[in-house]
Amino acid sequence: MKKSNYYDYIAQIYDQTRWLTESVAEEVADFILELTCATPETSFLEPGVGTGLNVIPLVKRGYSVTGIDASQKMLDQFRQKLNATPVNLNLIHGDASQLPFPDNSFDVVLTVHMIHTVSDWRVFLDNIDRVLNPRGFYLNCQWITPPARREFEGYFQDILSKYKIAKQESQSIDTVIHKIDVEGYLQAKG
Ligand SMILES: C[S@@+](CC[C@H](N)C(=O)[O-])C[C@H]1O[C@@H](n2cnc3c(N)ncnc32)[C@H](O)[C@@H]1O
Repeated sequence: MKKSNYYDYIAQIYDQTRWLTESVAEEVADFILELTCATPETSFLEPGVGTGLNVIPLVKRGYSVTGIDASQKMLDQFRQKLNATPVNLNLIHGDASQLPFPDNSFDVVLTVHMIHTVSDWRVFLDNIDRVLNPRGFYLNCQWITPPARREFEGYFQDILSKYKIAKQESQSIDTVIHKIDVEGYLQAKG
């Protein structure tokens, strides 16, 4: 694994770039718990857990949560939000492209804005299928951009378009995004 990645450089300001406030995160947690018919024994895994925005409410409510992330600095930010690492939280610094867990280890696997970062998203989904209990849930969230950010990105793209290289980069990101068809892949696998 690379010694540092892009997220190491932005870890300190990452939360400020998100729109998931604490109260929204609590509501999302309520939704996830209802959707997955969670019991106190339900276990969660979030590959690419980052600073913990999505799972902190679950940790605080006592659920067993495992997070894996390639950025040590993002994990440091996560830990700083908790007085001490609680026993129900397991944070691993590593590459989620290879999930280092036995088969059927988790009841719920959650990926949020990270699937484009793994080395092979199809292998990654196969791995998620492997570590997930047969009756478990896989929840994926990606490419959701609120209107205010879209507006900002519009201005940003206008500026970037003056610079040939930057424009090429943004086009290739769009191409990558459209190639990742999570739903289609999972449906094809039944
Ligand atoms: C956009 S952030 C999302 C963080 C979090 N899921 C959220 O919604 O706030 C992407 C995260 O994935 C992590 N990441 C990127 N590639 C990874 C990989 N191959 N294995 C593990 N984590 C990875 C990054 O370090 C970063 O923390």
